[in-house]
This record gives sequence, structure tokens and C-alpha cells, in this order.
Amino acid sequence: MAPDDRDDEACPPPAPLDWWQRGVIYQIYPRSFADSNGDGIGDLRGILTRLDYLRGAGDSLGVDAIWLSPFYRSPMVDFGYDVSDYTDVDPVFGTLAEFDELLAAAHLRDIKVIIDWVPNHTSDQHPWFLESRAGRDSPKRDWYVWRDPAPAGGPPNNWRSSFGGGADPAWTFDDATSQFYLTSFTPQQPDLNWDNPEVEAAMHDVLRFWLDRGVDGLRIDVVFKLAKDPQLRDNQPGRRHDQDWPAVHERVRRIRALVDEYEDRMIVGEVYLLDLQQLVSYVSSGDELHLAHNFVFVHLPWRASAMRESIGDFERLAGPSTWPAWFLENHDHSRVATRYAGSGGSGGRRTRVATMLVVTLKGTPFIFQGEELGLPDAEVPPDRVVDVDGRDPERAPIPWRRPSSAGPGAGFTTGEPWLPIVAGAERLCVEAQRDDPDSTLSFARRLLALRADRPALQGGSQRPLDAATDVFSFLREAGGRGERLLVALNFSSRRVRARVTLPEGLETRGTLVLSTHAAREPGPIDLRTLTLDPDEGVIVLLG
Ligand code: NOJ
Ligand code: CA
Repeated sequence: MAPDDRDDEACPPPAPLDWWQRGVIYQIYPRSFADSNGDGIGDLRGILTRLDYLRGAGDSLGVDAIWLSPFYRSPMVDFGYDVSDYTDVDPVFGTLAEFDELLAAAHLRDIKVIIDWVPNHTSDQHPWFLESRAGRDSPKRDWYVWRDPAPAGGPPNNWRSSFGGGADPAWTFDDATSQFYLTSFTPQQPDLNWDNPEVEAAMHDVLRFWLDRGVDGLRIDVVFKLAKDPQLRDNQPGRRHDQDWPAVHERVRRIRALVDEYEDRMIVGEVYLLDLQQLVSYVSSGDELHLAHNFVFVHLPWRASAMRESIGDFERLAGPSTWPAWFLENHDHSRVATRYAGSGGSGGRRTRVATMLVVTLKGTPFIFQGEELGLPDAEVPPDRVVDVDGRDPERAPIPWRRPSSAGPGAGFTTGEPWLPIVAGAERLCVEAQRDDPDSTLSFARRLLALRADRPALQGGSQRPLDAATDVFSFLREAGGRGERLLVALNFSSRRVRARVTLPEGLETRGTLVLSTHAAREPGPIDLRTLTLDPDEGVIVLLG
């Protein structure tokens, strides 16, 4: 009997992974993905016509699921995060029938579909709010958070809007009824009153509407805001009263229970709390969220030690039964290539390192559209700024084709794009990268294929390894046959000896299976002499 087989008997294989643990989830911001009708704004049909890019064709990226940012009816003050009808598609994005078509086409290709659910607030044009603001005795008055002004006439407390850097009160005054209503984001996004069971029931109906239609999962917008101090007391330096109130957990549990009535569905929450202990409390009990987006990670400096410590902290707090989720880009944050640009043009290379990190860490990786192209933020001149909170640069449209052949819409649109196309689209577009084996897109395709092929990268255990100061290295190991993959990432823009220390008994020779640098040939290497190029990451198969 081979020694490995004995191991098999000693540790039975772990439970099979769920789809949302195994695969890679790709975030689509529908306004900026692909425009099918020339109005300059991306739409559902545009996504439908680009599914080959994502999965199912020979040169697809190979994603397992897509998360669609909101496409519901909306006045678009917050580009869809201000919903005026939760159960219909905004005409700018298409129709409900087109959504069904997209869902069916995605499922045919084995792509799961996650939609964005925005339960904390509606648009001020939602019929519920129109009714609520119609009078103090409206039957829907209590569906939102209404309060009299403070004695001096100002807002009822010191809560601040999440937009505008904390300068604006989270309250909007209604002249007609002389009361304030709570608006945690823009004044056009009134907060629903989740203390009212009718609101919870109505929002549960929305969930059922989409789950019955067949969506595979929900991303829950600002889930940590679904409970606030019912007494509306002022925020204090050490304690916020406008979010993460204890009742939030029982509310999330009821959402989970509803979702669990359906087979194989998943909820991922936007838990924008910059404290890992608080973040973990939304996933660790096993009956709340399946996954929580970790914003501490997004705010880290580009340093090997910072990444290593934060990942270790998460694991310690979460414990072995909590499944992590990792991302470094989304539609609210400057892209990696710009955020971590460093000096001397490292940005594009760092996107590859970042993507290698999120795709190889234990947990579910989320990739934001355009990350696989290494897109930087777009430059948005003042007269083209449209977002209330400065997030236009990371939301620029996907350049599909070379502007020199397809025109200024870069294959995203035949019209005028709603935001400027990113600089360098000629070289960064899909058309230019698709057949170039050295491109970021080709790298991303190989990286996703490797994860899909290697059980150690999906469900394997993980341990950090000692390495040079600028290098973050870790080992992923699958039980049973003992597949071992080592990841080593150079966070500096210098060439460095990796100096990875392997656990006792492990062979230092292995096979380099992927580098972020196309020039490095796959093949045998000895870890004792491994030197990483500036901003290079590698994956090595041990043994
Ligand atoms: C978080 C979303 O990601 C962001 O885009 C939006 O503006 C706020 N929530 C409010 O819905
Ligand atoms: Ca369109």
C-alpha cells in the first residue's frame, strides 16, 4: 500500500464543496459591460451576447457565476441602487423577459446568476415612499423612518450620510409634513424601517419573486444596515447607533431561512464594517450569510506583511468552519492598477498579482469586470462626472475592441458611452488581449483554469510560509492524494530571492505551473533558488 493511500483512510475526504465555494464569481456592472442598442448604456441583451466571453467557448475566461449589479426600475440617482420597482427591469436595461432569457442562457452554460438585492432603502420614487410621504397618517408612514426635527429645528440626531465624506446629515426634511426622513445615502434613497414587520414581509416577497424565477443567489446591499438603534440615539465615538445593531442578526437569519427553502442558493452580504470581528459575526454562526465581502482587505496597503497578517487574523477569528470570500476590486473602489500603481508602471502587473492572490486563497474569489484585463481607473473630466460619490473612474465601460477599428465606443457601444472609455483601450481591449498569450486576459484565463483543475486550490487547507520580507507565500494542500500547490507573490517592484521555508519533510523541487509574467516558462524549479521578478507571482506544484 502506498503511504498516500494510508493517509486516505486516516482522513476521510471533506464534504464536497458547493458551487459558490468551488468557483469564481464575476461581478458585472450592467451599465458598463456591453451596450446592445447604441444608447451608450450597457444592458441585459449586451450581457447575453457576451456570454461566450465568460464561459462555454474555447477561449472563455471560465467564470462559474456572475453577480449582476442592480438592473431594476430606478431613477438612477445612485445608478440602480435607488430602486423604484423591485420586481421589474428598468427600460434602459431591457425587460423582464430579457432577464429570463439571460438567466436561461447563463444556466445552459453552467453559469450561476447572483442578483443584487437592495433592502435597506428604496428610491424616493418608489410607490411605497410616495404613499408614506403623503401624510403623517398614511398607512405606509411607518414603512420609513420619520421623525420630528430636534428642538432647535435641525435633524433628529447626529447620524451622517455615507456619501460626501461624512459632511451631510443622514436626514432629509419633508416640507409638506414637516418631518425628517432617514436617508443613509442620497436624499433620494429613503431608508426602509426594518423594525416594521410589514416591511420585512414585503422585502421577503421580493426575494421570493426572484428565487422563484430561478436566480441562484443574492448579493445583499449594505446588509449591516438592516438594523439601527430603534431609539435613534446619537452615534458615539466608540459606538455607532446607525448600523450593525444586534437585531440585524435575527433579520439575516430569517433571510437565510427563506433562501434555504430553495435548493442550492447562496447569499453574500456587503458587510462594510472595517472590523474583522464584526464582519465574521455575519458568517460564522452558519445560519446567517454564506459569504461576506471583506472590506478590511480592500483597504490594506500593498505589502506582503499586511496581507499575510490580515488573512491570518480573518482565519483565526472565523475558525475552520467559516468559508471566506476575497476580492480586491468592485464598482465602489479605485481599481488595483490605479490604487496600487506605485511608481514606475507597476499597476498593471499588480493587478495580476492581486488576481492570483484572490483566486488561490482559500475561499470564494470575486473578480470585478475589467480586472481580468488589468484595467486602470478611467480619467473622468469634470464635465463628465455623473456619480454622487466619485466612483465613475472604476465604472468606465469595458473596451471590447480597438477604438482604431471599432470607433470611439471601443465595441462597448456604437453610440456615445455614458462614461469615458479608459485610456490605453487600444492595447487593453479584449480584442487586443484575446489572442496574445502574454496578455493579462490570457493570464487570467490560465489562472481560472488552474483553479478549476486543482482540488487543492478549491477546498484545500492553507498555511502561510516564512519567506522574504516582500514575499507573501502560502501552501494549499488537498487531503487524500496529497496535492500541494505553493503560491509566492512579490509585493515589491524589485527582483527578490523568495526564501520560502517549506514545512519539514517537503521536497524543495517542484514544477512552476503559472507565473504572472508571461516570459517565465513553466517547468521544473528548485524553491531554494527561486527568485521573483518585480511584481511577480508564481504558483508551484510541489512534489
Ligand atoms: C453599496 C453599493 O455597492 C453602492 O454602489 C451603493 O451606492 C450603496 N451601497 C447604496 O446602495
Ligand atoms: Ca443600451
